Amino acid sequence: MLKGRHLIEPGDFTIEELEEIFELADRIIANQSDYIDLCKGKLLASLFYEPSTRTRFSFESAMMRLGGRVIGFDNPDNSSVSKGESLSDTMRVISGYTDIIVIRHPKEGTARLAGRAVPDTPIINAGDGGHEHPTQTLTDLLTIRHELGGLGGHTIGVCGDLLFGRTIHSLVKTLNRYPNNKFVFISPKELKMPSYFLSMLPEGSYIETDSLDAVIGDVDLLYMSRVQRERFVNEEEYLRLKDVYVLDKKKMSHARKDMIVLHPLPRVNEIAVEVDEDPRALYFKQARYGMYVRMALISKLLGTA
Ligand code: CP
Repeated sequence: MLKGRHLIEPGDFTIEELEEIFELADRIIANQSDYIDLCKGKLLASLFYEPSTRTRFSFESAMMRLGGRVIGFDNPDNSSVSKGESLSDTMRVISGYTDIIVIRHPKEGTARLAGRAVPDTPIINAGDGGHEHPTQTLTDLLTIRHELGGLGGHTIGVCGDLLFGRTIHSLVKTLNRYPNNKFVFISPKELKMPSYFLSMLPEGSYIETDSLDAVIGDVDLLYMSRVQRERFVNEEEYLRLKDVYVLDKKKMSHARKDMIVLHPLPRVNEIAVEVDEDPRALYFKQARYGMYVRMALISKLLGTA
């Protein structure tokens, strides 16, 4: 039963509950007109303490496409947070006005705290610092499910900023719950997967390398990621590392014909624009899957589907 629950990290839901969301997303994709009043009369609060394009707009458009409405901010300076109001007080007040709350915050753990402040209103973590981004994971899984025909038995290349990339942490943890997935972690040594994270993965389920060229031909899925400028304390270090991997046509020529490329976006330089025309480049389609899976998630947490 998903009604009334929070989504703080993908591990909050069982595989069966994730499947329930994906199956509803599939039905919405197939017959959107059947769902235009599913959340009529419901109100979503969209609280973005950190910039966003995809997550905020896809949540807001998801709620509106379900017939619901949205209030919120994308700049906390325009709310009483700027007067020093605590997160807990803000959440308690907003939960009195709305039915479901989406929150993005630069500090790890904030969504969990928000959920504790309002146990009776579903809270969705839209990204908390370098920690988790569970609805990006739902987006990624729905995409993989559609485009590779299932969520197990894949070799997944994960390339770029594996240290700070919250989308990557959430995705790898979740794909590790499906059978027979193998990971190829591609990063410079400064941006490797944290060792605590690697210790959670079964022995033999991953390899690490700093060479994209060496492994691009071996993967079913290449998940590219941006070097997370906002998480660096040293700008020079960021500038030195930001362009360490650039996926271009030449590199794509060594990949398998049925491999797919995903990226949570925004992209900076890590995928050359020339790759966009390659049919294996699915990152814009992936962003659209994100709206459908958020439609399904909102409906399930509100108990309207
Ligand atoms: N993928 C993602 O979280 O994008 P935004 O930061 O634009 O929401």
